[in-house]
Amino acid sequence: MSSGSSMRIRSSEYKEIAKRMRAIQEQQKRVVANMRKIKYKVAILSSKGGVGKSFVTVSLAAALAVKGRRVGVFDADIHGPSVHKMVGLPTGLGLPARQDGTIVPIEVPPGLKVASIGLLLPDDETPVIWRGSLKTSAIRELLAYLDWGELDYLLIDLPPGTGDEQLTIAQIIPQLTGFVLVTIPSEVSKAVVKKAAAFARRLNVPVIGVVENMSYFECPDGSRHYIFGRGAAREIAEEFNIPFLGEIPIDPRIREANDRGKIFFLEYPDSKAAKAFLEIAERVIGIIEGQGEGGE
Ligand SMILES: Nc1ncnc2c1ncn2[C@@H]1O[C@H](COP(=O)(O)OP(=O)(O)OP(=O)(O)O)[C@@H](O)[C@H]1O
Ligand SMILES: [Mg+2]
Repeated sequence: MSSGSSMRIRSSEYKEIAKRMRAIQEQQKRVVANMRKIKYKVAILSSKGGVGKSFVTVSLAAALAVKGRRVGVFDADIHGPSVHKMVGLPTGLGLPARQDGTIVPIEVPPGLKVASIGLLLPDDETPVIWRGSLKTSAIRELLAYLDWGELDYLLIDLPPGTGDEQLTIAQIIPQLTGFVLVTIPSEVSKAVVKKAAAFARRLNVPVIGVVENMSYFECPDGSRHYIFGRGAAREIAEEFNIPFLGEIPIDPRIREANDRGKIFFLEYPDSKAAKAFLEIAERVIGIIEGQGEGGE
């Protein structure tokens, strides 16, 4: 590897590196100051893709807001941001910026403050081709300049996996309140989401609980069909000694509302899924704010 000749850093390069380090420190200070105004910071995690993390993030956020909490949603999925679309904000809309450089999240019903990298991208077709360090910088910079104001909850939607984005969030947000895990009942998902639970444990970040999405499909005659299997979330909960937060049925209206940019929870408040989210929000509040039983 080594050629024998030592590497030299020229003073101009050193100055450049020092400048960059100072900028990072400055941003991290801003992140700490911003996060101090937010009581609970909760990231939605699942090693598995497509299990409904973003849908759970938006629905849980709406349910918490309906329960009187001040809630923000940050989409940390750089490659596949979707939160903005689920709440009806088009890709490329932008985020308002103030003269002092701070960025203002966009407010949508029921009073959710939303910020997504998707709002800053040119369109849905252009891929973001960034290495880990660039993703880390983008997340840090956004969290440094986004002005959420005072919030009770900031929910952070993560991409699938346990890589750059997940590590960045766990490392730059001081005292992350915890992760909410999302799985579907399939064996494949269960096995992969267990990795997410192990990841949380390794990082010493508490797991608030596990949500099972797409648990069953209910026919109009009331019969239930367990399309993806049964019991994955309860098994994860038991194995890792974490609360089971609830189960969300498969409902074609969920996909349809998400695609239309309508918040399902608000569009179909009488649905089983919306009611399940109210219960999940109640459990999350119980666990985090210490008011209730929490879990099962
Ligand atoms: N319970 C459900 N019933 C029907 N459709 C659902 C349900 N949950 C999520 N969906 C749909 O499944 C798709 C995937 O959901 P979503 O985007 O929330 O998953 P994700 O885990 O965030 O995916 P990614 O890993 O790509 O970030 C979406 O089209 C969504 O509308
Ligand atoms: Mg997603």
